[in-house]
Amino acid sequence: MNDANRTPWVVGVSGASGTPYAAAVLRGLLDAGESVDLVVSRASRLTLLDETGIAFRDGHWQDDLRTWLERGADGKPGTFRVDVGAVRHWAAGDLAAGPSSGSYPVKGMLIVPASTACVAGVALGLSKDLLQRAASVTLKERRRLVVAVRETPLNGQTLRHLVALDEAGAVVLPASPAFYAGATHIQDLVDFVAGRVLDAAGVAHGLYRRWEGELGGSRAD
Ligand SMILES: Cc1cc2nc3c(=O)[nH]c(=O)nc-3n(C[C@H](O)[C@H](O)[C@H](O)COP(=O)(O)O)c2cc1C
Repeated sequence: MNDANRTPWVVGVSGASGTPYAAAVLRGLLDAGESVDLVVSRASRLTLLDETGIAFRDGHWQDDLRTWLERGADGKPGTFRVDVGAVRHWAAGDLAAGPSSGSYPVKGMLIVPASTACVAGVALGLSKDLLQRAASVTLKERRRLVVAVRETPLNGQTLRHLVALDEAGAVVLPASPAFYAGATHIQDLVDFVAGRVLDAAGVAHGLYRRWEGELGGSRAD
C-alpha cells in the first residue's frame, strides 16, 4: 500500500499490566490487512520488560516489536509468525508526530491496555504525551476510540473518568476475559479480550468462539 492510501489504526500501549492483550490486538489488525501506527508509552516499557523480558527500544523498534508479537501469552518465543511491515512507530514524546493532528488520516485509536493514569489523562484532555494527544484528537474528530482499561479494584475517581470517556463517545472496554468461549489456555483468555477490542473497532477476526445460544456449547466434555 502506498503512503497516500494508508489509513491506519493508531494503537496506544500504556503502562497497565496486559501487554499480551496489546500483542494480540496488533496481530489481529495485521492479520486483517490493516495498517497500524504504534505508540508505546514510557511506562509501558516497564510492563513489557516485566511481562516479556523485552526491552523496547525506539531505535530498534522493528526487531523488538517482532520479537514481542511472535511471543505467546505463555511467554513462549516464536509462537506466531508476524510481518511488521504495515506498522509505523512513533516515539511517545514526539508531539509533532502524525497522529497528534486531526488532519492526519487514521481510522481511529485503540488503547490496549489503558492504565488508570492514561484514562485520567484522556478524560481530562491532558495530552501529556503522544498517546494521550492522539486519543484527544480521536475524540475531537469523532473517530472510534476504544479504551481497554486494566485495573482492579477501581476507585471512584477512575470510574468518573470512565464515565467521562463514555460520554465523549469512547468505547470503554474493561480487559475482562469471559469463560463462555471455551478457554483452555492463557492465550484463549487474552484473545477473547483482543477479539472484543477488534469487534468494537469493526475489524474482522477469528480470535474467539462466539456465543451461539446454547448453554455449555463450548465445553469440550
Ligand atoms: C509492573 C507494573 C504494572 C502496572 N500495572 C498497572 C495496571 O494494571 N493498571 C494501571 O492502571 N497501572 C499500572 N501500573 C502503573 C502505571 O504504569 C503508571 O500509572 C504509569 O504512570 C502509567 O503511565 P502511562 O499511562 O503514560 O503509560 C503498573 C506499573 C508497573 C511498573
